[in-house]
Amino acid sequence: MLNEKTTEEFAGLVVSDVAAAISGVLTNIGHKKGLYKALAGAGAITSSDLAVKTGTNERYVREWLNNQTAGGYVHYNEDGDNYYMPDAYIPILADEESPFFLIPALEVAASLWIDEDKLLDIFESGDGLEWGAHHHKLSCGSESLFRPGYKTFLVAEWIAAVSGLSEKLSAGARIADVGCGHGASTILMAEQFPASNVVGYDLHDGSIKTAISRANDASANDNIDFKVASAKNYQENDYDLICFMDCLHDMGDPVGAAKHAREALKDDGVVLLVEPAAGDTVPENINPVGRLYYGVSTVICTPCSKSQEVGAALGAQAGEKRLSEVMKEAGFSSVERVAQTPFNIILAARP
Ligand SMILES: C[S@@+](CC[C@H](N)C(=O)[O-])C[C@H]1O[C@@H](n2cnc3c(N)ncnc32)[C@H](O)[C@@H]1O
Repeated sequence: MLNEKTTEEFAGLVVSDVAAAISGVLTNIGHKKGLYKALAGAGAITSSDLAVKTGTNERYVREWLNNQTAGGYVHYNEDGDNYYMPDAYIPILADEESPFFLIPALEVAASLWIDEDKLLDIFESGDGLEWGAHHHKLSCGSESLFRPGYKTFLVAEWIAAVSGLSEKLSAGARIADVGCGHGASTILMAEQFPASNVVGYDLHDGSIKTAISRANDASANDNIDFKVASAKNYQENDYDLICFMDCLHDMGDPVGAAKHAREALKDDGVVLLVEPAAGDTVPENINPVGRLYYGVSTVICTPCSKSQEVGAALGAQAGEKRLSEVMKEAGFSSVERVAQTPFNIILAARP
């Protein structure tokens, strides 16, 4: 049942949303100017000391700290006129390697404001908007947001949860990372499984160029390759593992992509599907994570799918039941949930 609010209560809700939207810029400034890192583990600190430590202007830093205090990110101590950030907040705000480091999501939000005119147009025309048509803050923000989670969970928990898979990849196998974006997961798998060969495919040539330069920067082994290709037309086959990392729902024809994966997979191979966490019904997704994902789905994932043939527009909150139906329609006989995090569900599909 709708929890109806009075006008005053509802105004309060919207004020806090507008305050959060404006504060998002300040949070990104806090990251880029090293303010959270300087607060991390520092105990109580004055605005002057924080400004000196970070080479920033004290007056701006004091105003920033007051905004952060009002938002509950730091605490203010009136006696000493100082501020502190609890250690428990470090993984979210200051540790770029933490799988719960959320600040890059604001870079994604920034890209959407830049692209607002394009979004207004497609709401009227119903057209799609390709992944590559967005401002580059989207792909860079997504990369930074997802990489720490892949580093923490992909090999140690998700691949490990599929019976016999880690052993097979360690011995040497063929891996495809479809819709690989900037290649964070591709590079990780090539590093962790040096006896295996890994190919990253993506429709967006700009992302593949960045992935190649990331692999060079990481001095990745020579067991990695990247190719511009759609999920429905890459040529190589005989794969032991095909991954779709947070991308199947972005595709115009997810059933077609899964069918192509079935054809490119060995009979004893497996598809690993990493998708946004979601329940199967709208009411199950009425929570802050669902709000976030319905948001990105409306302006990124659904337009991406609508820009391609079929335009199935699964949406980022498709849920396990719908995703399993897609895989079964494509010819997979079994689909099981092998892992989950607060942000993702991980499904393994076998022929
Ligand atoms: C949300 S991003 C995820 C990127 C990467 N897998 C990651 O986790 O960082 C979705 C990616 O899917 C790619 N993509 C969308 N449709 C595709 C298709 N039909 N074939 C191949 N790649 C596709 C986009 O270009 C984009 O790089």
